[in-house]
Amino acid sequence: MKHILKCTGYDIYDTYIVSGQGCCLYDDRGGRYTDFEAGVWCTALGHSHPQINETIVEQIGKIMHLGYRYKNAAVEEAALKILDITTLGEGKCIFLCSGSEAVEFGVQIARRLSGKPLLLSLQGSFLSSYGSSGKRSPEEWYLFDWSGCETCTCAEQCDPACPSLLAVPVDRIGGMVLEPGNTSGLVRLPPKRLIKMLESMVRKQKGLIMANEITTGIGRTGKWFGFQHYDYQPDIVAMGKSIGNGCPVSAVAMTGEVAGGLEDSGFRYAQSHQNDALGCTVAAKVIDVIKTEGLIERSGEVGEIFKNQLEQLAYRLPQIKQARGRGLMLALEFNAGEDGTANRLAAMHRKLFESGFLVGFSPAANLLRFYPALIITQAEIEGMLNRLEHIILTE
Ligand SMILES: Cc1ncc(COP(=O)(O)O)c(C=O)c1O
Repeated sequence: MKHILKCTGYDIYDTYIVSGQGCCLYDDRGGRYTDFEAGVWCTALGHSHPQINETIVEQIGKIMHLGYRYKNAAVEEAALKILDITTLGEGKCIFLCSGSEAVEFGVQIARRLSGKPLLLSLQGSFLSSYGSSGKRSPEEWYLFDWSGCETCTCAEQCDPACPSLLAVPVDRIGGMVLEPGNTSGLVRLPPKRLIKMLESMVRKQKGLIMANEITTGIGRTGKWFGFQHYDYQPDIVAMGKSIGNGCPVSAVAMTGEVAGGLEDSGFRYAQSHQNDALGCTVAAKVIDVIKTEGLIERSGEVGEIFKNQLEQLAYRLPQIKQARGRGLMLALEFNAGEDGTANRLAAMHRKLFESGFLVGFSPAANLLRFYPALIITQAEIEGMLNRLEHIILTE
């Protein structure tokens, strides 16, 4: 990889991965790894899923990409399936290529319709690699500081007199973009009462609510979408990653009212890879496979057991501060203590990799992260946990 620009901020291990099957990856020396990251949280059905492969082969034999003026049934079929799972009824969709594009598109349409200068989001949320949602400048965004909310003593409802809520410049806010739980890979889950309160503040101003489901969508949290753990229905839902199971497709679904408002306003957006037949066919197939294999329920059930196992590990080992997450979006946070904590975790991460387990790792947050495919088995989880415990005990 001498000729590939290094810019992600991640070290590249000296291993060539040549193939994948289900939750396993294989290197060029015959090594086998169980993947608890699903790539970059994308391969929800596992690597090289036979039905997805078959769909891709079949579709490229027909057509991959078309101009703006022409119809293709696969695109309309995918849109109907997405509107069904988002419960956006008679809404409309657009298909793009990446999560960043989908979020930025959603942000553009929310701004277009609101006419107000600010959008609200939660501090710490990742929204996009570029554009207004990548930059999140104070001229365009109000980022709500919810650092005190996780330990706040309010039980069912936020206190409307809470200084953090009173500080929100509601009359300048045209909408809210909510990432329900991934929080830049830190697996921090915003409290339900906070989301309810922010939603009602934004709705009172006739603002739009957009769910950023790039990471939390398509079964990751044990429901189709992360917003379904909260008590609201968004106007716009952006999804990516798992909807393509590794194939670059993303989608933005919106209510009929939002779509009508945009079309009436003369809104224009055109990019080459928009509503591509190939991506749409894959997205529709991913939804079908998830339904027929019952993977939403599975994600919730297996995730619950996995989380209990992480909690037990945290109970047994004083090095671990907390196990947390929802569905198959889970994390272990380690106690910081000494200066070398990040190095110890880096060594642990490396040892797991050398033992054949790929897990996520956030050095700044002392965190190991587990976002496996929704087909991960109990035996694969136990194999990784046994190895992790051994590594912690012998470090
Ligand atoms: C919550 C969230 N939104 C948006 C994105 C951007 O998606 P992509 O990397 O596909 O552009 C990511 C990427 O990790 C993400 O986690």
